[in-house]
Amino acid sequence: MIDISANLSGFNFESCIMNASGPLDTTLEELTDIATSGAGGIVMKSCTLDVREGNPEPRYVDIEWGSINSMGLPNLGYKFYKEISPKLKSYGKPLIASIAGANCQEYAEIIEAFNDSDVDILEVNLSCPNVIGRPQIGYDFEMSQDILNTIGDISNKPWGAKLPPYFDFVHFEEMASILNSSKISFIVSINSIGNALFIDWKKEQVLIKPKGGFGGLGGRYIKPTALANVKKFSELLDKRIKIVGVGGIYNGIDAFEFILSGATLLQLGTSFSQEGPLIFNRVSKELCDIMKGKGYRSLDDFRGKLKVID
Ligand code: SIN
Repeated sequence: MIDISANLSGFNFESCIMNASGPLDTTLEELTDIATSGAGGIVMKSCTLDVREGNPEPRYVDIEWGSINSMGLPNLGYKFYKEISPKLKSYGKPLIASIAGANCQEYAEIIEAFNDSDVDILEVNLSCPNVIGRPQIGYDFEMSQDILNTIGDISNKPWGAKLPPYFDFVHFEEMASILNSSKISFIVSINSIGNALFIDWKKEQVLIKPKGGFGGLGGRYIKPTALANVKKFSELLDKRIKIVGVGGIYNGIDAFEFILSGATLLQLGTSFSQEGPLIFNRVSKELCDIMKGKGYRSLDDFRGKLKVID
C-alpha cells in the first residue's frame, strides 16, 4: 500500500496534492467540485476586504506550455468565504483560506474574522503580481516582515505565506531569515512569475488586456524556477516550516520532483485550470506508480533527498 498522505500544521491530507489558490476556486460551486474531487485539501480563492471584480478581460489565456494571467484578484470578499466554510468543511478535508490584503490593517481585519470560522489553515498571499498600481509584497522585505509579525500576533489558526519566486541567493537568504524569525508554519512557493509578456505576432498585439499585456506566467514554463525555490528554501528554513510546492505540476514525475526537492504538499494551478478536477486523482495515481516502481512506500522515504553531483 503506497501512502501519499501528508501532514500540515496538524491536519492530515489524504493526498499531498490539492488545488492552488487562483483558478476555479472562487464560487461555492467551484469549491464544491474541488471538495468532491481527489484533491487532498481545499484552497479558496485569495479573498480581500471587499468584493472585487478584478481586471478587465481578456485577462487569462492558455498558451502552449502554460498560461498568462492578470486576473487582479476577482473574489467574493472574505465574508463570503467565512460564511461558506462550514459547508465546505462538511466534506471532511482540510480547508484553507487564502488572504490578500493591501496593508497590515487589512490583513489583520481579515485574519481576525477567520479566527472565528471553520477554516483550518490560513494562506497569506504576499505575491499577487496583478493588482494594478501595487507591487508584490513579497519583494518588499520590510513590509513582508511587518505583515508576518502582525499575523503572528493575531492569528489563532496555523498560517503560512504564499511567496513570489526569488532568483538570487541573497534574496532567498533575506526572506528565509525573516520567515525563520516569524511564527509561520509553512510557505507556498511559488506564485506565478510576475510581469511576463506574450505576443500574438500575427495581430502584432499582446494577449491580455490589463497592464499593457504584462501578466503572471504559470504552467510548464515555471517548473524549474519553482523547483529551485522549493529546494533553496528547504535548505534555508527551520525544519518546523513546511513547504507547499506549486508551479508547473502536470503529472506524477513533476510531483515526485517537488517532493524530492523538499516539498511536503503540492498545489496545482494552471494544470488544474486546463484539465479540471479529475487531475487530482490522475496525478496522485501517477505519483503512487512512480513510488511503487522505486520501492518507496511513503513520501518521507524520499522527501528532500535530491542528490547533487560531487
Ligand atoms: C490574480 O487573481 O491576479 C491571481 C492570484 C495571484 O496571483 O495571487
